[in-house]
Parts: sequence; structure tokens; C-alpha cells
Amino acid sequence: MKTLVIFYSRTGTTRKVAKAISKALKSDIKEIFPKREFKGFFGFFRGGFEAVMRKTPKIKPLKKLEYDLVVIGSPVWAGNMASPVRTFLTKQKPKKVAFFATSGGDIGKTFSEMQKISKKPIAIFNLKTTQVKKGFTITPFIKKLK
Ligand SMILES: Cc1cc2nc3c(=O)[nH]c(=O)nc-3n(C[C@H](O)[C@H](O)[C@H](O)COP(=O)(O)O)c2cc1C
Repeated sequence: MKTLVIFYSRTGTTRKVAKAISKALKSDIKEIFPKREFKGFFGFFRGGFEAVMRKTPKIKPLKKLEYDLVVIGSPVWAGNMASPVRTFLTKQKPKKVAFFATSGGDIGKTFSEMQKISKKPIAIFNLKTTQVKKGFTITPFIKKLK
């Protein structure tokens, strides 16, 4: 099965998990880059605002993805997916999807919102930022993807 792990990460936490998942699956990996970054204090607030308002900011172009399974990762922003991930999901319609997220501890409606604009995932998985820092396991998630 040809698999892609694709993610957005503002501060590296989701990237770390994405790399571990991709390594375990021996898959390709791609990062979503917004045209305008969410840096610093103002970036934080714009991110929260865009997530709440369900905005779809411009992202750097991605080729049409030819994969059997696309595993999509997002940080949780204001109980929702990060806005660049929303842009990605509105543009691309993969055949099969799985979702993962990192958060401070409250994922809110992140996965249900992702499902709404994409499709029912074959698996979901989330970790807290503190778990990612300390050391974490992705094995239960990987098992569901194989
Ligand atoms: C704008 C913004 C809003 C956030 N909202 C939430 C939230 O609602 N719940 C939560 O648990 N964490 C929230 N967080 C924390 C992030 O989800 C968490 O730090 C995540 O691991 C960051 O991932 P990253 O390093 O890949 O960007 C928020 C962070 C940002 C920047």
C-alpha cells in the first residue's frame, strides 16, 4: 500500500510525531507550508482566529497526491484543526485517510471537523505536547494502518 504522511506543524511537535509515523510505515512524508507563517505572538492569535472561523489560508502548492492511504497530522488550534490543514483537506480528496493530532491536552472537535471535510478515517491518534517531549509510542496507531 502506497502511503503518505502529511502534516502541518508550527512549533515542531506534530512534525516529530509525523516523522516517527512515516519511519514506522516506511512511507513518504510531506509538510504543509502556509504562504504566510504563523510566527510569534500575533501568529498565535491569527492561528486561533483562523481555526475558530474555519478559514482556509493559502498554502504552498502540492502536486495531486497519488496514494492509497494519506495520514494527516495537525496541531490542535482552539479545539479544531490548524487552518493550513483545513486548506489541504478542502483541496485534496485522498482515497483513504487516517488522522493524528498533537495538543496541550484538549483536542475538542478536531477529528470530527477533519472528517466533515474529508472522510471517515480508518484510524485516529492524538498525543499531548508533553508526551511528545518525554517519549511516546505510536505502535497502536501503526497497527491500525497496516
Ligand atoms: C493558536 C493555537 C491554539 C491552540 N489551541 C489549543 C487547544 O484548543 N487545545 C489544546 O489542547 N492545545 C491547543 N494549542 C496547543 C497546540 O495544539 C500544541 O502545542 C501542539 O502540540 C503544537 O503543535 P506544533 O508544535 O506541531 O505546532 C494551541 C496552540 C496554538 C498555536
